[in-house]
Amino acid sequence: MSKGLEDVVAATSSITYIDGIKGRLLYRGYDIADLVENSSYEETAYLIWNARLPTERELSDFTKGLVSKRLIPSGVDSVLNSLPTNCDAMDALKIAVAVLGIFDDPMYSTQEKAASIASKMGTMSATIHRHKHNTQPLKPKDGLNFSSNLLYMITGKEPDELMAKVMDVVLILHADHELNASTFAARVVASTLSDIYSSITAAVGALKGPLHGGANEKVVDMTEEIGSPDRAERYVLDKLSRKEKIMGFGHRVYKTDDPRAKILKDYARKLISTDKDRKDFEILTKLQEVMIKEKQLHANVDLFSGFVLNHIGVPTYLFTPIFAVGRSMGWLAHIMEQYSNNRIMRPVAEYSGPQQELYVPVERRSAGVR
Ligand SMILES: CC(C)(COP(=O)(O)OP(=O)(O)OC[C@H]1O[C@@H](n2cnc3c(N)ncnc32)[C@H](O)[C@@H]1OP(=O)(O)O)[C@@H](O)C(=O)NCCC(=O)NCCS
Repeated sequence: MSKGLEDVVAATSSITYIDGIKGRLLYRGYDIADLVENSSYEETAYLIWNARLPTERELSDFTKGLVSKRLIPSGVDSVLNSLPTNCDAMDALKIAVAVLGIFDDPMYSTQEKAASIASKMGTMSATIHRHKHNTQPLKPKDGLNFSSNLLYMITGKEPDELMAKVMDVVLILHADHELNASTFAARVVASTLSDIYSSITAAVGALKGPLHGGANEKVVDMTEEIGSPDRAERYVLDKLSRKEKIMGFGHRVYKTDDPRAKILKDYARKLISTDKDRKDFEILTKLQEVMIKEKQLHANVDLFSGFVLNHIGVPTYLFTPIFAVGRSMGWLAHIMEQYSNNRIMRPVAEYSGPQQELYVPVERRSAGVR
């Protein structure tokens, strides 16, 4: 038995390769650093779905396909509008995906359903944000690429070049990550031959957890709580002495720097513009130093992602939905891969309960006696 399924091979996949020792992450054989530098989210999505880079024409058709599916059905908008404004954003997104399964075009092929979900994840996340503030959701804007449009629908302003690039980088870096917990959840549901919306709903639920997608929100809270770089070491030592975890550190697969964390740190540095930014950046860097010294633990993707998202206008409670927007491309590719070579996932448990109990009728049972 491997607790947490550590090192258990549960599927064959040709989508993403992680070398946890060397700190490498490849989508379909392409290094993420190369994709971040040269590609776009749309092109990376095409690559993840089709196992090769598109021609100009293919990319243009693929992008048009996504753009044509951005608008969400009014039924989804009404449900989101009916939720209390203090509803957790990931709970709202989970509901939105489930409701989309009811209102989406029933004539869509599986591929079209995938494109519809991937495209609408951004609109649904922005709609959740707008309803939370009792403001009218914004319609997707023609002429904007995926990332610029996403930021536009959230903030109401067209982003500048750097902001749009940062959003694109965040989405590319989150697009897939092999059999992480949410992707595994999606594949388990797909393996029952349930529908694609149910698989994504399960994945969103899994991503919500603070050990998975919810960690970057906690990093922002932690940075506020620490308040100053010279308090970072004491903070870590106190937490570790209480056996508490420091969010944004550690990983099941990487035994060195998470390559995504390095890239996001570089972008975080580019976004520093105030004394507070500099102080927050220094706190995070100090945490890295102390965690290596005390626990030999490296930063993961969540350490700097909150910093960059806040700086491009994404509110903290929307971090995990944005993670879900990016990761939806990977979830959908994994669901397709599961469908194409399926066997229901049904592991076994090592039984640790009693054997051979004798049934005692309820009137003869006393408290505490089995
Ligand atoms: C990512 C994570 C869930 C991986 O979990 P895992 O592979 O099951 O690793 P474990 O929780 O068993 O940790 C192994 C050891 O490292 C320690 N450790 C792992 N992450 C730690 C962290 N962030 N802070 C402090 N200690 C940590 C554990 O306490 C444990 O120590 P021990 O052997 O002395 O008990 C875990 O590192 C974690 O909880 N990190 C914080 C949350 C986070 O940033 N999540 C985002 C992931 S991208």
